[in-house]
Amino acid sequence: MLYTIVTFGCQMNVHESEKIAGMLENIGYSYTDSKEAADIIVFNTCAIREGAEDRALGNIGNLKRMKKANPNKIIAVAGCMTQQKQIAEKLFKTFPFIDIIVGTHNLYSLPILIKEKQEKNKRIFSNVESGEVCENVPVSRTSGENAWVNIMYGCNNFCTYCIVPYVRGREMSRKKEDILNECKNIISCGKYKQITLLGQNVNSYHAPDYENGNFADLLKSICRLDGDFKLTFMTSHPKDISDEVIEILASEDKILKELHLPVQSGSTKILKAMNRKYTREHYLYIVDKIKNKIPNIRLTTDIIVGFPGETEEDFNDTCSLIEYVKYDGIFAFMYSKRSGTVAENMPNQIPDEIKNFRVNKILEMEKQIQKKKGI
Ligand code: 5AD
Ligand code: SF4
Repeated sequence: MLYTIVTFGCQMNVHESEKIAGMLENIGYSYTDSKEAADIIVFNTCAIREGAEDRALGNIGNLKRMKKANPNKIIAVAGCMTQQKQIAEKLFKTFPFIDIIVGTHNLYSLPILIKEKQEKNKRIFSNVESGEVCENVPVSRTSGENAWVNIMYGCNNFCTYCIVPYVRGREMSRKKEDILNECKNIISCGKYKQITLLGQNVNSYHAPDYENGNFADLLKSICRLDGDFKLTFMTSHPKDISDEVIEILASEDKILKELHLPVQSGSTKILKAMNRKYTREHYLYIVDKIKNKIPNIRLTTDIIVGFPGETEEDFNDTCSLIEYVKYDGIFAFMYSKRSGTVAENMPNQIPDEIKNFRVNKILEMEKQIQKKKGI
């Protein structure tokens, strides 16, 4: 029996697909890269922007013919799209050849759902509103010498543009002991040179099993593990990165000198409308502090252009911030309206042509900076 997985979206999803792979291998499936040959195809979807949803819809729609040719092929759809009940219901209705729909909170029940589908031969729709941290999920790692390790799930920040808190739920930190055990196993198996800690906002990690077990403490404890490995982490919310974390980033040899610090906008007015809870000045204060302590730091960021109400002046503030920070890498996105978020109903939505122009300007700036740095 063969499986394949089609993954959309961020590193969190890439790692979640490694868990899907682990679960499927555990019940006797082997990997194939061929959708034709696969007995089960799992789509791990992303909902962060409309474009990601459209790509997933296109890919799923294309399977109609394949399912007709082989009705026994199981098609399962998981991820952030299917966690939104309305979207999940629409998918189930629109694509009658989807066999299983499962949300993010109960992804770990996928093997049971597959069994149910096979035994009862009926379509399965499974979507629950909230979940708990699930340990001991088998993982089939596919990211070369890097091993992803979740330290927390969900997000409490409710940036006004973002769907993540709605599809991933509130922050839940894993136990420090479970994280350390996973890291020890990764190091001792000898296949990986790097561990990347994952969370929507790693700086607000709080160990449920240790008093004062904050993110700085976790980083220190992982660095104390024996073995030859490098450590890095993402994503850091600028409002939560502590001096202690910056200190550890500077002093621990095992931690890579790189930091992904999404700014989103260089305009304090837009940052406020985004509910980011920092100003342009405070962000730059943090950047200066980090660069003073770690002059060779590799800084990257995320930027959204065309957030509702973004004037030319606001956009110029973003450009001047980029010019000042001189990022080593920028992920620039056009604002995409997400249903259920606060920004969805904000006035002064920006036309696509302007968003396009602004995103291209940022990509051009990134190119120029990289050229000057010789990257
Ligand atoms: N539109 C555009 N970009 C978005 N992001 C999150 N939500 C949206 C949206 N609605 C971007 C942010 C975030 C990154 C992962 O995706 O920049 O940091
Ligand atoms: Fe979305 Fe903001 Fe949470 Fe990041 S911090 S996942 S942008 S709500």
